[in-house]
Amino acid sequence: MSVTPQTRRVLSGMRPTGPLHLGNYHGALRNWVELQYQYDCYFFVADWHALTTGYEDTGRLQEFIHTVVVDWLAAGLNPGVATLFVQSHVPEHAELHLLLSMITPLSWLERVPTYKDQQAQLKEKDLATYGFLGYPLLQSADILLYRPAYVPVGEDQVAHVEITREVARRFNHFYGREPDFEAKVEKAIKGLGGRNATLYRDLRRTWQETGAGDALERARTLVQDNNRITVADRERLLGYLEGGGVSILPEPQVLLTPTPRVPGLDGRKMSKSYGNTIGLRDDPDTVEKKLRAMVTDPARVRRTDPGDPDKCPVWDLHRIYSDETTRQWVNEGCRSAGIGCLDCKKPMIDKLVAQIRGMRKRAQEFEEQPDLISGIVSEGAEKAREAARETLDEVRRVMHLRAG
Ligand code: TRP
Ligand code: SF4
Repeated sequence: MSVTPQTRRVLSGMRPTGPLHLGNYHGALRNWVELQYQYDCYFFVADWHALTTGYEDTGRLQEFIHTVVVDWLAAGLNPGVATLFVQSHVPEHAELHLLLSMITPLSWLERVPTYKDQQAQLKEKDLATYGFLGYPLLQSADILLYRPAYVPVGEDQVAHVEITREVARRFNHFYGREPDFEAKVEKAIKGLGGRNATLYRDLRRTWQETGAGDALERARTLVQDNNRITVADRERLLGYLEGGGVSILPEPQVLLTPTPRVPGLDGRKMSKSYGNTIGLRDDPDTVEKKLRAMVTDPARVRRTDPGDPDKCPVWDLHRIYSDETTRQWVNEGCRSAGIGCLDCKKPMIDKLVAQIRGMRKRAQEFEEQPDLISGIVSEGAEKAREAARETLDEVRRVMHLRAG
């Protein structure tokens, strides 16, 4: 077992609050679909997080979880390469959350910007709860449990990854130190064997004196590839490279998702709370009708009035869906009143509707095989639990919650 950072691992989650829309797709999902082929990805449905604000009425939770999973598959997430699971199927998240809650100062949680913001925005709900305050800490547990190198999220979640890093640092500070660390490290170095021991010392010195990253990399590889030493010694040697003790919970990094602006049908940002969304599986004819009626540059009242794409939400959709030639045609035609708004929308509508049609069809295929879906999430949970258990075993050990 190893608690070394998983340099190829990526983790992210999404709350099941209803069917996904194009804002969710271009804001996160599309990026996940690409990442799954480059990294060892873990993606989960954050059903416990949905409870932090939606605790009163949980009646549709199962339905929403199912919908999100099918939407993911329809959008191209591939359970053959990525691990897809549901948070509450992996109770280890809850245990780590509890343990982390012991070391997390209240003030850290109170000053997370989303805490006050959300309370102010969702005035109709009582969010003065223990669970809601703990939202970012539950998210920290979600992340640290898998020791990922990267967490792909949008701008709005950066503060949550930041507190995750602080919590990890605090944890490592308390529990990553052994009273006789130096002596144990000495023994571990000897255990590498004569030549490797010398090489390890040299590389460590080079890294510490010059900050040469390749020396650190080589030393890490040397330790990781050595199968004569124990797991505990391997951790000590990795921890010693960077200075102090053992890094039980490595600090993850944000992988900022590049997100285009996705306007809703009324021109404001697409969002469920505005009721202006286009769902991934909406009926194509309805979508087409709605897009034809979508607001444009308000200055173009008559067909003969020139317009400005920069003031038009339809243009934002062209930026996502249209190629360079079409965009040029729009730009010129709009500014010179050479084309009407319906002409302008047409190629974008065709592309968007074709995409929705494809997702709708794939979703339908999955909906017809409920066993396939439950198989995917139960296999995902199994795999996730394996990874989670490794971390939690180690966490329990260093906190002296188990012997050994
Ligand atoms: N809070 C995230 C959101 O609302 C969802 C989430 C929960 C998450 N746990 C996570 C995202 C862990 C990344 C990693 O979008
Ligand atoms: Fe918007 Fe296109 Fe109409 Fe210009 S022509 S205002 S870009 S919809």
